[in-house]
Amino acid sequence: MPPPRIFVTGATGYIGGTVLDSLVTRHPEYSITVLLRNVPERFAEQYPNVRIVHGDYDSADVIIDAVSKVDIVIHNGNSDREPSLNAIVEGLVGKEETSFLIHLSGTGVLSDWREAKYHGKLNPKIWSDIDDIDEIWSRPGGELHRNTEKILQAASKKHGDKLKIAVMCPPDIYGRGHGPGRRRSAYFPFFWKDIMTVGAPFYAEDGANTRSFVHIDDLMEIYLRVVEAAAAGGAGAGWGKEGYYFATTQEASQIDIATATAQVLRARGAIQQDKPLRLPKEQVAGFIPYSGLSIGTYLYMSNSRTRADRAHKLFEYHARQSTLWEVLETEIADALEY
Ligand SMILES: NC(=O)c1ccc[n+]([C@@H]2O[C@H](COP(=O)([O-])OP(=O)(O)OC[C@H]3O[C@@H](n4cnc5c(N)ncnc54)[C@H](OP(=O)(O)O)[C@@H]3O)[C@@H](O)[C@H]2O)c1
Repeated sequence: MPPPRIFVTGATGYIGGTVLDSLVTRHPEYSITVLLRNVPERFAEQYPNVRIVHGDYDSADVIIDAVSKVDIVIHNGNSDREPSLNAIVEGLVGKEETSFLIHLSGTGVLSDWREAKYHGKLNPKIWSDIDDIDEIWSRPGGELHRNTEKILQAASKKHGDKLKIAVMCPPDIYGRGHGPGRRRSAYFPFFWKDIMTVGAPFYAEDGANTRSFVHIDDLMEIYLRVVEAAAAGGAGAGWGKEGYYFATTQEASQIDIATATAQVLRARGAIQQDKPLRLPKEQVAGFIPYSGLSIGTYLYMSNSRTRADRAHKLFEYHARQSTLWEVLETEIADALEY
């Protein structure tokens, strides 16, 4: 079989960049093209065999043309943007041969952030990407990432014979990325910014709300296995409704994160106390306003608990990298520099 032709978007991002770097490292024989709107200075030197298509997520014609020439698309970056996803689907279904689309979503789609009774409290629900797939596929409109998951489900139902779709649904990610652009994740830079406004790490209610986490390089193992299956014609991975992948390797409650963060920050002399603060829910809800939504509620007060049953079953997936607690100091040091 000739090496697969792959198109990667979001390659300057934390996740997409690490996907690109992992693919190039593990499979130098793959033929890779990236969509870039800004080309990092050292890109050509770092990745001499990677082709560049210039454009952004609104460049529908550019995207359609580029994906019509490849076998596999790995779509990262802003998962919620519809025009780029529509263009990718249009370009892929216009081809004669079977194509593969690996799309980045996120467990925000399952968070209970809109259920006030769970804010700052433990929700016992842990989602399985096998047992709960019907419920996952019918999440209500308005949940994070749901708009693009709907597009993918419709495409899968209509074109599933020639368009094989996998949805990567990671939880919060930690660990340093290793792509050509952004190398830091989202949680701790956001947390540090809000910590600075109140003087210490914080939680609401009893802080028992719990989120799943994965190290970026554990997540990469799932990406690699799914891409390798696509390169082999699809066997060995699930697609469509059987192609939804959680990646969780551990969980952490907000109070445990806040307590551990307070100790690290105090030891660095960045804050005055080594205990976290209990804040009113309304104050936490005011953090990170975004398009009329409270991302503070989502990040610091909600539960988002998932189990990577599919990857475990198909790939014997398990944590190989350091735990969040083992890399917490580095994670926080990186966030402080951000
Ligand atoms: N990080 C996490 O913990 C996590 C966990 C689960 C899910 N997710 C989801 O994964 C997605 C990516 O996360 P990330 O942390 O990798 O983000 P990121 O580091 O901010 O990367 C975003 C990437 O998308 C590109 N991009 C954004 N808008 C674009 C546009 N209009 N045209 C072309 N390129 C565009 C950026 O390109 P430029 O460099 O040119 O800006 C960059 O390459 C997000 O939707 C997030 O919700 C993230």
